[in-house]
Amino acid sequence: MTGMVKPALVHAIMKEYALPVLGRHGLGHWARVLENGLRLAEATGANRQVVALFGVFHDSRRENDGTDPGHGARGGELASRLRDAHLDLSDHDFDLLVYACAHHTDGTVDGDITVQTCWDADRLDLWRVPVTPQNAFLCTSAARDRAIQEWSRERSVADYTPDYVREDWLRGLVDRQGGIA
Ligand SMILES: [Fe+2]
Ligand SMILES: [Fe+2]
Repeated sequence: MTGMVKPALVHAIMKEYALPVLGRHGLGHWARVLENGLRLAEATGANRQVVALFGVFHDSRRENDGTDPGHGARGGELASRLRDAHLDLSDHDFDLLVYACAHHTDGTVDGDITVQTCWDADRLDLWRVPVTPQNAFLCTSAARDRAIQEWSRERSVADYTPDYVREDWLRGLVDRQGGIA
């Protein structure tokens, strides 16, 4: 699961992350969005690499945990800056990643299936806020599936954070920031 996002990439992203690393839009959320996306991709056929990368970029340039206009576009810009050193995507797939990041808060439901899968992966982690994702604002039938919704809801409300977040993504970060929360 984690092989799709290398720790070195997460560490590069984290150098510029402004908020608590395990906060509302922090690494637990990134990992759940990543895993929601991969589960949805089994049904939608979305590009798994793009979906996984969306998880770690889409909220990476937030400046606050509120509405924060423009944070998606800034996440896409960060992906552009890190592309040469860390990403191995075709131009087509890279453009999908940047578009998905830039427009993930627009409330749009139409688009490429990989982009739609990214957006639904994020929306299926809304329960933690707490907001129930509305079917009208979900892009794919996969995200409206009752079993997938229940799976993602339980993880969202429990703030489920996979072990690799602390063991790999946050390794070495605790000392630099003097605490990970
Ligand atoms: Fe966001
Ligand atoms: Fe998000």
